[in-house]
Amino acid sequence: MQTYDLFAPAITPADRSALFAKMRSEPGLCRVEPFGAYAAARYEDAAAILKDPKRFSSEALAVTAEPAWLGPNPVAQSMLSMDPPRHTPLRALVTRAFGPAGMARLEAQVRRASETLAEAAVRQGEVDLVDAFTFVLPRDIIGVMLGLDPSTFSEFRRWSTNMGLISSARTPEQYEEIRSVVREMKDYLTDVIHARRRQPGEDMVSDLLQAEVEGQKLTDEQLLSFLFLLLPAGMETTSQLLGNAVLTLAQHPEQLELMRADKTHIPRFVEEVLRYEPPTQLSFRMAMQDVELSGTKVPAGSLVLGLIGSANRDERVFDQPERFLPGREKATQHLSFGYGVHFCLGAQLARMEARLGLEALVSRIRGLRLRSPEVQWLPGFTIHGPAVLPVELVAA
Ligand code: HEM
Repeated sequence: MQTYDLFAPAITPADRSALFAKMRSEPGLCRVEPFGAYAAARYEDAAAILKDPKRFSSEALAVTAEPAWLGPNPVAQSMLSMDPPRHTPLRALVTRAFGPAGMARLEAQVRRASETLAEAAVRQGEVDLVDAFTFVLPRDIIGVMLGLDPSTFSEFRRWSTNMGLISSARTPEQYEEIRSVVREMKDYLTDVIHARRRQPGEDMVSDLLQAEVEGQKLTDEQLLSFLFLLLPAGMETTSQLLGNAVLTLAQHPEQLELMRADKTHIPRFVEEVLRYEPPTQLSFRMAMQDVELSGTKVPAGSLVLGLIGSANRDERVFDQPERFLPGREKATQHLSFGYGVHFCLGAQLARMEARLGLEALVSRIRGLRLRSPEVQWLPGFTIHGPAVLPVELVAA
């Protein structure tokens, strides 16, 4: 069985599709360093791992989010790293805010924010769209949901990027930067919790302060874990979805034409960007017992990776998987939002932000050109998207 070093800095997003195809062609699971992990590259195996918390526990995240060099990281104690039954009541506390009624309440704000940002970006013409649009929109919206003061957002991008780098970090400088980010976020979010306890508002932090699980209010540690999960989750992945959408538009100008002619094409486009360029490339689990999957024996205690990026291109499920085909069959069967009890809580929010964000942008332009042919991708393997997007926008 061949071992793959998925987290090696030399593996770039351009290499991934060939690498994943090779991994999918191997019998059984693959071995992955540096974690001594097993990786499920085929769709069926990745889905089997994600949907079976009894055999494949999400407590893996408690291990990968707290490497020895980092120490305590509140996200390791969040619901993302819990299995049922502990996971169930915590998730129930926030499902309503992210459900259809919550989204309907937010829609007008997302539309307004999208239009203001798109207007300003098109006026500039030459602009870094990560700075001006793809990061700012999700940041401002999760800020509204959590009731945060916009004047405190200056470090959010640094925080969000670094929280996504924990499993890929390799150098002492990266370790130090991430340690510092965790300290800063703890201080900031603890202040938010205290301020909202003194003066509640109409936001999720105030709601969580009132919430009870089995008759008990959440402790400050539980609240902090919630916010350590929600704040970066609300920014980083959606920002990559929008960024990957812009890159795809630049590479497929006919898609811009289709969307300008008919905005109902946009959700189809977004769904295919999710399948083709998933912002989260993998999810970790831990084998709770000796298990056998596709003929590979996995010893209890092993880390097991569901390779979302590879599952989404599995030729056993998707026809012509290497082609970008909006509106394809099984369009929503990708694993980009996970599968099972941890299915992404923010999936509807992410789709809405991408749809309204693109509506605002494409209705104002007739051309979009990358100013450099080389895409500068974010470092690390887990989060996939452009670090910067220098573009030239041609106003409609
Ligand atoms: C395109 C954007 C997004 C992508 C690709 C994405 C991806 C994912 C994935 C793959 C999971 C499952 C992780 C696992 O099973 O281990 C997940 C869970 C989660 N996502 Fe997202 N996400 C996105 C946007 C958002 C947004 C906007 C939020 C809002 C705050 C959010 C909040 C969450 C939360 C709280 C969970 C954990 C749910 C649980 O443990 O039950 N996500 N997401």
